[in-house]
Amino acid sequence: MPNAITMLKADHVAVKRLLRELDESSERAPRRREQLLADIEREIKIHSQIEEELFYPTFKKCAEKTESEDLFYEATEEHHVVDMVLPELKATSAKAPEFAAKSKVLKELIEHHVREEEGEMFPQARRLMTDEQLRELGDAMEARKKTLKAMWTNPALKPVKMVQSAMQKVMPTKMKNAKANAIAAMVPKESRR
Ligand SMILES: [Fe+2]
Ligand SMILES: [Fe+2]
Repeated sequence: MPNAITMLKADHVAVKRLLRELDESSERAPRRREQLLADIEREIKIHSQIEEELFYPTFKKCAEKTESEDLFYEATEEHHVVDMVLPELKATSAKAPEFAAKSKVLKELIEHHVREEEGEMFPQARRLMTDEQLRELGDAMEARKKTLKAMWTNPALKPVKMVQSAMQKVMPTKMKNAKANAIAAMVPKESRR
């Protein structure tokens, strides 16, 4: 049973390493840049999808009507900015002089976002949720990650991925948040006694 926060932090380490490599890459190695960018895109998309589908809604529910709720909105907006910057970088030739500048912007954006998650949101989540809840959430996230990873690495499943993420956007909030609400409603062990 993985802890949700430990899982997300491990992803952060991996994506930050890839972004550093991209930042240090040169226009003389465009193939390498393209490969790195493809890896970064996959890592970011899978990670943000499990955050948006599971971690963030559970956090929001647990933080309801407290100041911590703002952290949910901030993080969601930052994901949105990444969603706008990433396609721009993808559309830029790996040999173009703008490529380095755009990848630096993406790297800084993500480093900032990760600092906020790890420095503010995760410590709050630890305060708001029990270990049991964090492990239950980690389980759900791990299962979802497996499916998403398979979709990203198997080209035949790509259309499924597109349909799924489109569905996720139009799905009623009530349905989308069912798992998050169930975890948020888990009664802490201590009070059950
Ligand atoms: Fe994250
Ligand atoms: Fe995030």
